Amino acid sequence: MDRRDFLKRFIKAFFFALSLSIISIISYIYPTKIKQKKTFYIYLTEEENLPKIGIRRFEYIFKNEEKTINSFVFLKKDDKGLAVFSPFCTHLGCLVKWNNIQKEFICACHGGRFDVEGKVIAGPPPMPLERLPFDIKDGKVYIGIKLYG
Ligand code: FES
Repeated sequence: MDRRDFLKRFIKAFFFALSLSIISIISYIYPTKIKQKKTFYIYLTEEENLPKIGIRRFEYIFKNEEKTINSFVFLKKDDKGLAVFSPFCTHLGCLVKWNNIQKEFICACHGGRFDVEGKVIAGPPPMPLERLPFDIKDGKVYIGIKLYG
């Protein structure tokens, strides 16, 4: 091995070790960012309680050994079918409210506004409201909420 080969190998080994160190530091600082979220399907309501048309708020409680979550979602029913929206604003996570007169979701924190499809129409939110997965089985409506497993 001549001096040039040695130097190439040394540089490769150095950058490999540096990459591993950076990944370790990032995973130590931001462990939840790297950890994958799992979708848990929870019972929400009977199918007969769904809105015939329009948007309605449904509350739910999710419990497991580690946590209890008391929250809500918005269900939208129209000619396109059913959609479930997360109530968390995509700007900084405040809860949005449905305004049935303006036909908009409104976030009071910084003036974010979303249309009936959850798309941003005003304010700082960078993305539409999150649509949650759902399932209807035997007349029961289940929604998928994402949590760190
Ligand atoms: S958190 Fe909703 S607009 Fe800022």
